[in-house]
Amino acid sequence: MKKLEQLYEGKAKKVFATDEDGVVIVDYKDDATAFNGEKKGTIMGKGVVNNKMSNYVFGLLEKDGVPTHFIKELSDRETAVKKVSIVPLEVIVRNVAAGSFSKRMGVPEGKELLCPILEFSYKNDELGDPFINDDYALALGLATQDEIDTIKKYTRKVNECLKKYFLSAGMKLIDFKIEFGRLPDGTIILADEISPDTCRLWDVKTNEKLDKDRFRRDLGNVEEAYNEVFRRLGLKD
Ligand code: TMP
Repeated sequence: MKKLEQLYEGKAKKVFATDEDGVVIVDYKDDATAFNGEKKGTIMGKGVVNNKMSNYVFGLLEKDGVPTHFIKELSDRETAVKKVSIVPLEVIVRNVAAGSFSKRMGVPEGKELLCPILEFSYKNDELGDPFINDDYALALGLATQDEIDTIKKYTRKVNECLKKYFLSAGMKLIDFKIEFGRLPDGTIILADEISPDTCRLWDVKTNEKLDKDRFRRDLGNVEEAYNEVFRRLGLKD
């Protein structure tokens, strides 16, 4: 497969065209941003961790019946994936109160929720990814009812699968964000990434944060946290 011109550069990844129909290459960067790009930095080695972890997790999810964009890992930072058009929804699941939920609802971080919460944000940087509900998504034509139903069904499966997987590596899955894409025939599949950038992961015994909150909140040991997740998941060579 030939890597051709760059199609897109996001905050954490670049996307390249290939000589194969319907296939693009994602190239994971070490760049990190927070607060809608206001805070910028570098997390050395993050691209490798996020690439390999996403690919491994996508493989597990496929086995559990969640279709994903993953095709083939090409290098430490590069992966061939199915070309999709991204559904402009950030799909968030919360198992334990943290982050914007704790702020908005006045609930202390770390409080167990009685059931998982699935919420949507409108993926729009200019607006700062505002919180929306199903009716907003339908009324704005961001997704159809069928697509929303499929996305919710897959998302709940992702949560159940990942909670068990991370717990087996000594980490609690506090919350996470995923994104879906449409294939040319309209099929919905899981896209983007699943990594310490997009999940909150706390050590099961000490509640130590092992995710991007270390960067967002200047907690230090950022690279160490990404490497620790990588090591615990058995992905380090
Ligand atoms: P929040 O508590 O800030 O709303 O974040 C919820 C989850 O979504 C958390 O696991 C981090 C992840 N997330 C992203 O992946 N991208 C983002 O831009 C934001 C704000 C959160």
